[in-house]
This record gives sequence, C-alpha cells and structure tokens, in this order.
Amino acid sequence: MCAYAMPSGIEMINRAKEKDGTPARVLLVGVGGYGRVYVQATRKLESDGLAVISAVVDPLAENSPEWPALAEAGVALFKTVEEFVQSENEADLAVISSPIAFHADQACAALKAGMNVLCEKPLCATVEDARRMVQASENSGGFMEIGYQWSFSRAIQDLKSDVMAGRLGAPERLKTWVSWPRGSNYYARNTWAGRIRDGKGRSVFDSPANNAAAHFLHNMFYVLGASRSSAAKPVSITAECYRANPIENFDAACCRVETREGADVLFYTAHCVKKKMSPAFQFIFEDATVDYPDSGEIVARFKDGRQKSYGDPQQDRMRKLRHCIRRCQDPETDTVICGPRAAMSQTLCVNAMQATPTHEFDPTMVKVEDQGDGVKLTHVPGLEDAMKEGFERDLLFSEMNIPWARQARHIDLTAHL
Ligand SMILES: NC(=O)c1ccc[n+]([C@@H]2O[C@H](COP(=O)([O-])OP(=O)(O)OC[C@H]3O[C@@H](n4cnc5c(N)ncnc54)[C@H](O)[C@@H]3O)[C@@H](O)[C@H]2O)c1
Repeated sequence: MCAYAMPSGIEMINRAKEKDGTPARVLLVGVGGYGRVYVQATRKLESDGLAVISAVVDPLAENSPEWPALAEAGVALFKTVEEFVQSENEADLAVISSPIAFHADQACAALKAGMNVLCEKPLCATVEDARRMVQASENSGGFMEIGYQWSFSRAIQDLKSDVMAGRLGAPERLKTWVSWPRGSNYYARNTWAGRIRDGKGRSVFDSPANNAAAHFLHNMFYVLGASRSSAAKPVSITAECYRANPIENFDAACCRVETREGADVLFYTAHCVKKKMSPAFQFIFEDATVDYPDSGEIVARFKDGRQKSYGDPQQDRMRKLRHCIRRCQDPETDTVICGPRAAMSQTLCVNAMQATPTHEFDPTMVKVEDQGDGVKLTHVPGLEDAMKEGFERDLLFSEMNIPWARQARHIDLTAHL
C-alpha cells in the first residue's frame, strides 16, 4: 500500500464540485506553442462546468491558432499580467506557458495580485529568479505549482511514496538518458530557442537540459525528495556540454550530480541526434532496481524476487491542471505537489552547466540532413550510442575515452544548500 494515493481525475473534480460549484477562473498566459494544450484542456474543463477562461495574456496571441475561437467567445486579451491585474477582470489561477525568460516576473506578479499559479517548466532561467519565485510563493496566501507533468502522475507519486517510506532501501544511483532529435524548425519556432539570452538580454538558458528534457533531470531529484512536495538537493555537479547546431547554447550534455541525500544522479541528453530514443531511466536502491525502459512501465525489481509495477508516467499529462483547478476550489484538501522549491534543484544544475564551457563538435563529425519542407536536422552520428553506453556504464563521455569528449568541469553547489 502506498503512503499516499492520489485520487483519480474524476474523483478530484467531483470532490471540488461538491465543495464549491463555482468554476475556477483561469488566466491563460501564453496561448501559442505549448499554451495551445492548456487552451484546449481548459476549454474542456469549461464545458464540464469546472473552469472558465477569464482572460488571456499574450502579446502575440493572434499568432496562435487557438486565438480566433477565444476572441469569438469574447475572452479579453491583455499584453501583460500587470495590465490584466489593473483591469476589471479577475482570476483564481494564472496558467503561465510563456517563454522561460518571463516565468519569474509573471508568476510573482500573479501571486502578488492574489492569484494561484501553475507555471510551466522549467521553473525559470537563473537561480536568483528561482529564489524570488520561492519567496513569492511562500509569502503569498496562494500556491504555485510547476508544470512538470511526470511529478503529478500516479506512477511517479506512487514510486515517490515507496521511496519516502524506505520500501526500496537507501537510494544509491539514479540515471536517465534521453535522445530527442530537434530540427531547424524547432530552433526557428520562436526567438529564444537555443539561446542563452533573448534579444532583450533576458536569461533563457534554453537547452535540452532546461527545456525538452528538463522533466527527466528534475524527476530524479523529485523522486528522492524526503517529503511529497520536496526534491533532493544537488551538492556538486560534474558536467560536459557540446554543440552541433548553429545555435548559441549547447545541444548535448551529460552530468553527474552528487546529492545531499547521498545518491548520485547521472543524466545524458541531446537534440543533435538522429534517432529518437527514450527517455529511459534506471534508479538503483539498496533493495531494488527501478527501470523505465524507453516508454514503457516503471517496474521495481526487488532483491528478494518481488516485482512491482507503477505504470507509465506519460499518462494523463493534464492532471497538473485539474489538480490546480481543484485546489482553487477547495484549498483545504490538498497540498503542493511540485512547487518552486522542488523544481529549483534542476535550475541549480542548469546554472552550473551554463558555467561550464560548451565544446563545438568538430565539423567533420556533424551531418546536416534535409528532412523536407525546408527542415534540416543537424546530428552527430554515434552520439546516441555514446549516451546509451555512458548510461549503462555510469560514465560521462570524457570518462569513456571517446575521442571527441572533452574534460568535464566540476562545480561545487554547497553554497546553495
Ligand atoms: N510540459 C511540457 O511538456 C512542455 C512542452 C513544451 C513546452 N513547455 C514549456 O512551455 C513554455 C513555452 O514554450 P513554447 O515552446 O510553447 O514557447 P513558444 O515561444 O513557442 O510559445 C510561447 C507563447 O507565449 C507567448 N508569449 C511570448 N511572450 C510572452 C509574454 N511576455 N507574455 C505572455 N505570453 C508571451 C507567445 O506569443 C506564444 O504564444 C516553456 O516554458 C516550455 O518549456 C512545456
């Protein structure tokens, strides 16, 4: 039995309805890109009578295919959160799905104005902004959740419960690898992809570790957190960063992180790859090994022969939104699942990675492949294999005598504990 069993989505919503029939008023900040998923999910909740879209903040809303229907429905549009706050409109929940550079200011402004916040991952770019978000959420009467959907999944919650209760024994080593190709269209979709700072000088730190694969780095800290809403703390990191695409920041990296909780965390990720593989992880505990093999089920195999399946953390990706809607309607029944303090371990690692040099792959190693419709995929043949081998052997690229690998940099993070 798990120490904590999350109610199903329907149970959550029915309980919220019983408690208070008023639909939660939702402010959508960013309605293009991933924000489209929130528009669709909120509209669904709207048709179920559980939420109502009170307004949109997006300076470029008209570029979103979702905007015409919202405009037709009479949804008010604002260019900034501050403009919304000064208007007649009100909201119970601000859902922030804007570019990374805006997360901190918008989340803090929304909390200050009395709204609750569901802010997309990653938490933000800089550690300073992360601290500001932690303070703002802890000093406010509302809540802030960070939208790492795995953390809200039944599978991860059940695994975390078992880890917290010591059912798997002491954690020893957690490792994850993720090979996700991204073509030129990914980097061209906005003005900040692949950037260290945006055009206005705001920190973005966009990379696989701080965007598409951020989920899986965060997940390892989250699973190890001593309480339901906390994550393990990085004590030091040894990292290597590489670049093949014509971008400002890195597009491949690996790192080993020592945690205050005693276990090591290993992470391998790249966008300059041809084969989409994983995310796959293996978490090694004193009494069990937990595997998530390339989009399957999470399974723990105990040394005494028992086996336990936790399901697939990819299921039900909008549980995070329903959780927040329910909390708006009935704050008494639940606590934070993944707040800014838990999400900050990933930010600390990413800031340290930004402080390590990015090595360019030798141009003779890099292939550029035409994928049609003007899309080009820049990739380094063999990089997937290097990641997989590092994952299997618990070694960084530079520790495997790979000719292109360059020395890792070690950074102490104890000052942030
Ligand atoms: N949870 C997930 O699985 C997932 C998946 C993709 C992206 N994301 C996250 O969603 C966020 C947005 O990423 P994206 O790829 O959709 O970005 P994007 O740049 O493609 O789209 C961002 C949207 O925000 C709008 N926007 C720009 N400036 C704004 C501002 N100042 N205020 C409000 N809106 C503004 C844009 O017009 C656009 O509609 C990022 O934090 C990203 O990491 C999460």
